Amino acid sequence: MAQQVRGVIAPGKDEPVRTETIVVPDPGPGEAVVRVQACGVCHTDLHYKQGGISDDFPFLLGHEAAGVVESVGDGVTEVAPGDFVILNWRAVCGKCRACLRGRPWYCFDTHNAEQRMTLTDGTELSPALGIGAFAEKTLVAAGQCTKVDPAVSPQAAGLLGCGVMAGIGAAINTGNVGRGDSVAVIGCGGVGDAAIAGSHLAGAARIIAVDIDDRKLATARAMGATHTVNSRETDPVEAIRELTGGFGADVVIEAVGRPETYQQAFYARDLAGTVVLVGVPTPEMKLELPLLDVFGRGGALKSSWYGDCLPSRDFPMLVDLHLQGRLDLEAFVTETIALDEVDKAFERMHHGDVLRSVVVL
Ligand code: APR
Ligand code: ZN
Ligand code: ZN
Repeated sequence: MAQQVRGVIAPGKDEPVRTETIVVPDPGPGEAVVRVQACGVCHTDLHYKQGGISDDFPFLLGHEAAGVVESVGDGVTEVAPGDFVILNWRAVCGKCRACLRGRPWYCFDTHNAEQRMTLTDGTELSPALGIGAFAEKTLVAAGQCTKVDPAVSPQAAGLLGCGVMAGIGAAINTGNVGRGDSVAVIGCGGVGDAAIAGSHLAGAARIIAVDIDDRKLATARAMGATHTVNSRETDPVEAIRELTGGFGADVVIEAVGRPETYQQAFYARDLAGTVVLVGVPTPEMKLELPLLDVFGRGGALKSSWYGDCLPSRDFPMLVDLHLQGRLDLEAFVTETIALDEVDKAFERMHHGDVLRSVVVL
């Protein structure tokens, strides 16, 4: 039987979001209905509301979530009713050539759910990133559910579904940060801070946090940064070189998405170092570099999508590390809010004092 629950809808470009009754059908073959317990508010939800991602309104927002599987469709073996799961917005196969090479972002065989939730008048909803979890219940593909230890709080677990995974994965999966490495992280919002926490977890000896806002640098220190640089006052490339014996960092993680910070990342790495680009630029942005510098500096320039995560491997591992006290996921939760406070959370995003607002149901 299809069920009626409450969900947060973006009705049209730049219109305020509202909480509406939505219809969640029974799970079909390969699908699961999940009772959502927590869902973080991510910049991408705001971009959906602003029409920056697609014109396919109305959207059912929310994609950074954890909850309990309520029912599953035919042929589902990955999860069962009662399992506590984190949702991922890209159900990779884990078996193709790209997945086996450790680059699941390039998976050729992803399995997200068909989008078939509606409003009560039958209007089809487009779930944000194939999830739509600012809702009491949502319909996803079973492969979008990863079972984790239920001892973790839903609000902490949900964060691994997007931003925090992106940052931690940028460090440990894409950047391959290892014991003793020097790492510089440019931009210390939620994603940059997660990259700092990931680098700390991986045993980096030096973690240099760069931001233009001193409040962000203070938080970065709490996340594990050993040094901080305010790039409004100090040239960050010089500062990073000075802090790394004149060489530059082994791994530089860019978590802003602007030409000047891409350029800083390019020059702040050691000659054989790695640059990991996590910050997403806009289509009109360009970076101009002397070819001799591109040629002359070795190392690697990598982009990191969704932290190059393999949810089945990374979600349970990071939850376990959290439960062991080695990764503080709660530190990313600035506030918990109710479903009908999502618009307020979008406003607070602009003020720069929130890492994550999390809807708790
Ligand atoms: N130099 C250094 N830091 C900067 C600069 C700059 N020129 N401009 C902005 N920042 C800092 C901000 O002060 C803030 O701390 O970058 C941080 C950005 O943080 P958030 O806005 O919270 O964004 P976040 O969620 O962390 O995402 C960062 O990663 O996944 C991508 O799409 C995401 O492009 C975005 C980036
Ligand atoms: Zn997101
Ligand atoms: Zn694959």
